[in-house]
Amino acid sequence: MPAPTVVILAAGEGTRMRSRTPKVLHPLLGRLMVNWPVAAAREAGAGRIVVVGGPNRALEGQLAEGVHLAVQAEPKGTGDAVLAAATHVDHDATVIILSGDVPLITAEAIEGLAQGHEASGAPATMATMELDDPTGYGRVVRAPDGTVERVVETKTPGDASERELAIKEVNTGIYAFQGRAMLDALAQVRPDNVQGEYYLPDALVVMRRDGQPVAAHKVDDPTLTLGVNDRIALAEIRKLAQRRIHERHMAAGVTIVDPGSTVIEVDVELGRDTVVEPASFLRGSTRAGELCRIGPLTTLIDTELADEVRVVHSYLDSCRVGPRCTVGPFAYLRPGTQLEEGAKAGTFVEIKNSHIGTGAKVPHLSYVGDTDVGPHANLGASTITANYDGTTKHRTKIGARVHSSVHVSFVAPVTVGDDAYTGAGSVITEDVPAEALGIARERQTNIAGYARRRRPAKADGSD
Ligand code: UD1
Ligand code: CA
Repeated sequence: MPAPTVVILAAGEGTRMRSRTPKVLHPLLGRLMVNWPVAAAREAGAGRIVVVGGPNRALEGQLAEGVHLAVQAEPKGTGDAVLAAATHVDHDATVIILSGDVPLITAEAIEGLAQGHEASGAPATMATMELDDPTGYGRVVRAPDGTVERVVETKTPGDASERELAIKEVNTGIYAFQGRAMLDALAQVRPDNVQGEYYLPDALVVMRRDGQPVAAHKVDDPTLTLGVNDRIALAEIRKLAQRRIHERHMAAGVTIVDPGSTVIEVDVELGRDTVVEPASFLRGSTRAGELCRIGPLTTLIDTELADEVRVVHSYLDSCRVGPRCTVGPFAYLRPGTQLEEGAKAGTFVEIKNSHIGTGAKVPHLSYVGDTDVGPHANLGASTITANYDGTTKHRTKIGARVHSSVHVSFVAPVTVGDDAYTGAGSVITEDVPAEALGIARERQTNIAGYARRRRPAKADGSD
């Protein structure tokens, strides 16, 4: 038996989202909605994954590697959407239909459906779920023998009777089909409903009419097959997806102190005994090693932390932070910042596109841009690199073990040699040789008796 083909329907307009962005391209915890079922299908061992998109080709370039894009010329319904992928369907294989707007489906659930389908021997198996509030879903009408008779759609008022609306078992929009039987049945579906659409569930009615039973496969956990039709549902589903991600990390040995206030996107990786403090946001391809302490109130975007890193109240975007570094509170580390082992970026410090050497420290109130700081250098409070002359960015090079003292500006391009010093309040515009003291400021003048001279003279002439 060849590996199943998975077809993911994603060409609908998603009008209930009220968005310029197609529904399935809305992001969900760091991954586009449509790429959630793609990931599940891949994990379930799909042979080929086809996503059906709309004619504007909005999905082009947005899909995970190796996924085929089929185009449905007009959004004429879910049945028509499946036909748009017909050339990809192996007639002798199982075809699994997923929905681009049902993102929480798991590999296990897909495998469970495929097995249920095989066991039933039916040409079609519909995944169903029981919902306390089935609003918005197609209701499943079962025949006395337990097979599926039909699905009643409920999008338009009047589609379904009161009795049908009371049914709590709904169509998840996920199915397993025998390839050839599916295509044959779809060819006979007519758009005879208020919407004038070709409904995929009507293919089941065709099969039944031809004497072929349609099986139902109940999904025990209805949170796996909830659909996103509007932004309210998207927020609900995000919460469920987030819990799933949190639980995966906690099971692997990560402490998340307050999951309710912690965002961890789907591709984030965290090492054992790392602690994520409240109100922290870990996004994109962020990775942290073991025994890190992240937060509270910290954002990490596409950032890599080695082991035992401490980051508090800070914002890091596209940075690499070596082992045992400390960052914050209130640091802003921008793209291209790299901290080597044991380095420190302290309070009210902004660093951009810079390399901070082993054990080097930028403890307070500094801006360091386009700079290489040597190992064990110490940049005093309020060290500023003037890296931009209005047209071009220039680099500042600060050697090993340099002490910059406080309130120093380095006007790039400029180089400070190893073991050098710069004097407090200096504006360094010329290179400082190794081991020298660079000092560039006005000498101090004291004007004696100044205060006395300012005072207005008293009438009696006394002081
Ligand atoms: C569909 C089912 C309903 C089920 C529900 C589960 C039909 C007719 N109804 O309803 O029984 O309870 O899913 O979530 O199938 N799509 C296309 N092309 C189209 C129309 C839709 O690709 O022409 C895609 C959409 O992008 C979406 C999926 O198919 O990913 C489902 O379409 P949607 O309009 O959301 O159907 P529902 O009304 O939710
Ligand atoms: Ca839907």
